[in-house]
Amino acid sequence: MNNHNPMHVPVLLEAVVRNALPENGKIFADCTFGLGGHTKAILEEYPQITKVFAVDRDAEILNYSIDKNPDPRIARFQAKASELPEVLEHTGCKGADGILLDLGVSSYQLDSSERGFSFMRSGPLDMRMDKRDKITAENIVNTYEKSELEHIFFEYGEEKFARRITDAIIRKRAEKTITTTEDLAKIICDAVPAANKSKKHIHPATRVFQALRIEVNNELGEIEDFLAVALDCLNPGGHLSIISFHSLEDRLIKNFMQKFAKGCDCPPNFPVCVCGKKPTLEVLTKKAIFADEDEIAVNPRSRSARLRCCKKILTVNHEKA
Ligand SMILES: C[S@@+](CC[C@H](N)C(=O)[O-])C[C@H]1O[C@@H](n2cnc3c(N)ncnc32)[C@H](O)[C@@H]1O
Repeated sequence: MNNHNPMHVPVLLEAVVRNALPENGKIFADCTFGLGGHTKAILEEYPQITKVFAVDRDAEILNYSIDKNPDPRIARFQAKASELPEVLEHTGCKGADGILLDLGVSSYQLDSSERGFSFMRSGPLDMRMDKRDKITAENIVNTYEKSELEHIFFEYGEEKFARRITDAIIRKRAEKTITTTEDLAKIICDAVPAANKSKKHIHPATRVFQALRIEVNNELGEIEDFLAVALDCLNPGGHLSIISFHSLEDRLIKNFMQKFAKGCDCPPNFPVCVCGKKPTLEVLTKKAIFADEDEIAVNPRSRSARLRCCKKILTVNHEKA
């Protein structure tokens, strides 16, 4: 690590704590543990918690978090959120009363230049949350087809200059392999029109770096895999809270909650239900919760955060997501 005192300010903390568990919940699973800021506040609010499953894909952050959050009720596991069933099974636990996902990366990871997540710091083009994964941002930037790169920048980064930036990358990589965050950030800056580089715009590399991180870590696929097992990991009456930072992520989460809150999936023109499917969850946040101006002023990262929560209903047999 080259950062001296990495910090991460947990977003939407009050709403997360309020919705995290039912009143008498005892088992909590924080599947994106990071430095454990959310969990720390949750443990303070729900002293009856007996065990926390602290799951993170990133071994380094989990190790670092031990000093920050040494509570003996916390058991740490390097795993993906979608591997929560295996984590629970490993300890013989049947289910959690609260599950939290706070997606994306921690400031700890962004501040660490050697992890390659940030265009603000010079480092290798890596961006893997789990260093055991094979694909790095360098692989993607230097080997993906032009159409694939453009698609990723446009879809995951919502980057309107995706084509210009892709063209610039293709030209540069023909001369020399692009290996550092600094090199890539410069290529992007040079490709974006000057009018879009003023102080009122976000840094021109922001969206492409986000898009690459999502692709490197298969973040959307991982949310789908997690949602497919999430209800099985919750005890009846248990709460699921998810903070996302991207409209594609939020759409997956919103659709999942709506689908299982509705139950019946008969076509709307059927006079009566013939599928017999019952709701298996209740949505606790009718609309997504966003940060207010005060929070955004202190923690600009919270600007794009949105929280959705639901509660598992006391039925046992539900269809898989
Ligand atoms: C935004 S940070 C979480 C911060 C945490 N809530 C806190 O207060 O410190 C996201 C963390 O989740 C991890 N992560 C992201 N997606 C994950 C996934 N699908 N499975 C497991 N960990 C994941 C990242 O490595 C990172 O440490």
